[in-house]
Amino acid sequence: MVIVGRNPHKTADVIAEIKVQNPSGGAVDGLVADLSSLADIRRLAEEFRSKYERLDVLVNNAGAYFNRREVSVDGFEMTFALNHLGYFYLTHLLLDMIKSSAPARIVNVSSGAHPMGKIKFDNLNSKGIYLGWTAYGTSKLMNILFTRELSRRLEGTRVTANVLHPGFVATNFGHNGKGLWPLFVKWSQKRAITPEKGAQTSIYLASSPEVAGVSGAYFHNSKIVQPSNAAQDDDLALRLWEVSEQLIAEKEKTLA
Ligand SMILES: NC(=O)c1ccc[n+]([C@@H]2O[C@H](COP(=O)([O-])OP(=O)(O)OC[C@H]3O[C@@H](n4cnc5c(N)ncnc54)[C@H](OP(=O)(O)O)[C@@H]3O)[C@@H](O)[C@H]2O)c1
Repeated sequence: MVIVGRNPHKTADVIAEIKVQNPSGGAVDGLVADLSSLADIRRLAEEFRSKYERLDVLVNNAGAYFNRREVSVDGFEMTFALNHLGYFYLTHLLLDMIKSSAPARIVNVSSGAHPMGKIKFDNLNSKGIYLGWTAYGTSKLMNILFTRELSRRLEGTRVTANVLHPGFVATNFGHNGKGLWPLFVKWSQKRAITPEKGAQTSIYLASSPEVAGVSGAYFHNSKIVQPSNAAQDDDLALRLWEVSEQLIAEKEKTLA
């Protein structure tokens, strides 16, 4: 198992904790990358390829809510950069390795907040009036649409792609905001499930034989559920794929 974190100390601590809790488990390694940066994602993918020969399961989980507009090093609005382009680009860079490891799985963590999203292709960077929940919901809608199109493109490869809502989970989610917002989040998380419970659907999709042949579905509580109508729009999924590819290709020219 390889864990990716942006903070080397925190990543090392998590690895140490996993080893303590599961001393007879397999090897656990860590790689460090800022998943909101395309250059860092590219470096991460290269490092992964140089160190490992296969990738059986890729879980795209890192994501955040930004209550004020921030911009990534590449100039993208942060929610869009981290929550969507991060998943999209890392998956792309590792896809041939995942395919050659088949049967293999891709698991994307979305959210029940996705119905709040609306994709505006003429303003993907949320310029002008910025609403954190709209940006977040849109990025989580993108996670489902990305999975849908990815799954379609992976037909016949024995690689599955599924997406999930983990539930309302008492993690550090929302603690990064400014003003009263983090206090409100911490208060509301008193009613949230534990991180252990919140991880169950991700673990189920990553490892259960029950879903070995299932692809393109949206899960909650380890069951298939229907996402919003927009999240089932194949034309929207294709357009998002093509636009994301184009945005990254333009940026890649400056990364060389
Ligand atoms: N919590 C919920 O109620 C809830 C509900 C629905 C969906 N989700 C989704 O669940 C996923 C995980 O969130 P969580 O609840 O576990 O929140 P979290 O506790 O804040 O964890 C987010 C993780 O992403 C990492 N991360 C953030 N920015 C990063 C960056 N630029 N580069 C690399 N890693 C970065 C964080 O690293 P650091 O530890 O260094 O900050 C942390 O490990 C997200 O996709 C979120 O949208 C959560």
